[in-house]
Amino acid sequence: MLNFDFYNPTNIIFGKGQIAQLNKLIPRDARVLITYGGKSAKSTGTLQEVQKALSGYEIHLFGGIEPNPRFETLMKAVAVIKSEKLDFILAVGGGSVIDGSKFIAAAVYAESDPWDIVLKFGQSIKKAMPYGAVLTLPATGSEMNSGGVITRESDKTKLPMMNRLLYPRFSILDPTKSYTLPTKQLANGVVDAYVHVVEQYLTYPVNAHVQDRFAEGLLQTLIEIGPEVVANPQDYDLQANLMWCATMALNGLIGAGVPHDWATHMLGHEITALHGLDHAQTLAVILPSMLQHRKKSKHDKLLQYARRVWNINHENADKAIDEAIAKTRSFFVSLGVKTTLGEYQLGPEIIEPLMAQLEAHHMTQLGEHNDVTPDVCRQVLKLSM
Ligand code: NZQ
Ligand code: ZN
Repeated sequence: MLNFDFYNPTNIIFGKGQIAQLNKLIPRDARVLITYGGKSAKSTGTLQEVQKALSGYEIHLFGGIEPNPRFETLMKAVAVIKSEKLDFILAVGGGSVIDGSKFIAAAVYAESDPWDIVLKFGQSIKKAMPYGAVLTLPATGSEMNSGGVITRESDKTKLPMMNRLLYPRFSILDPTKSYTLPTKQLANGVVDAYVHVVEQYLTYPVNAHVQDRFAEGLLQTLIEIGPEVVANPQDYDLQANLMWCATMALNGLIGAGVPHDWATHMLGHEITALHGLDHAQTLAVILPSMLQHRKKSKHDKLLQYARRVWNINHENADKAIDEAIAKTRSFFVSLGVKTTLGEYQLGPEIIEPLMAQLEAHHMTQLGEHNDVTPDVCRQVLKLSM
């Protein structure tokens, strides 16, 4: 096992009806900015439920944070916080609203150009406002981690940031709040959580037995419940299991003491920024080809994945690995998520502009061995057509 330093201070309040706890979680004299996305927070009634739980508080609202939250929009929230002298943020939404709120929390204290926060991957942050979250979409794990992904629309740049100061103080995980999710978003959530586990598990063995068994358990849970929850979004137990699974997939626990990959994510971010595919749609397209192309360097873990996650017992290791990759693809398809770029009407002409973006963003040595160069990404994209 590799050395590690595990830290996660987020208080999770899980279950039906837990929004009512908000007045115990936010100081009574706080001046609160509630951040949310487009229409869903209002149309589902979640925003009203939150406001009711905070009756008597000074509340300001900031809506309109878009999927793949934009720097340009988030800076407007920073201006509201400064002009109204607010001191607590409550994010009500999915990964985009929570990530956006992380950026807002840090940008309020930015000493230079706030975009530098993102250009320096969050490392320059010295101070951030306290914030909490009410999760409405199980997928990203943002509700219990210190990362976020921000897009600057003006130059189509989508980059991750991370800093210990960005953990939510608390997150309320009420599985009934995701009953209203459209099928597409639920399927996206299952795929995103699945790929988060894969990016931390499917690298090379370091004898991290606990992390491996946890990761395999999360993957098997997603395989078991994924198609069911997409078909039955109002089933409490399915939603509860998906929500906790997605949180556990990226809260640092399974990633402590093991190598990480993240090449699929970084390439996927560029595709979202240039072509507008949803985050998880890019992952479902890239991951199968990424695994196929890097079969040699991932051999031992791919075989473990085939045997333990998919119960494939062929003697022939190569055949077992191919079958595990094929099953991964079929799993995404079974959720209704496409696995080739062609299905999105994207062809080989997109490859070189994507390579230029990877170079511009210094994403040239990705993966657990830092050997996923733009040329490797080029080959992976060709396999994804
Ligand atoms: O905008 P509204 O109207 O609210 O609709 C949203 C949005 O259109 C809708 N939605 C959310 N909750 C709903 C709902 N609709 C009905 N009922 C509900 N209860 O869902 C749509 C997508 O929301 P979004 O927040 O964008 O989705 P997701 O949670 O998948 O977040 C994606 C973002 O997270 C980043 C991605 O890159 C992307 O920008 N990620 C963040 C990570 C992190 N912080 O650790 C890791 C991930 O790898 C990921 O990169
Ligand atoms: Zn993701």
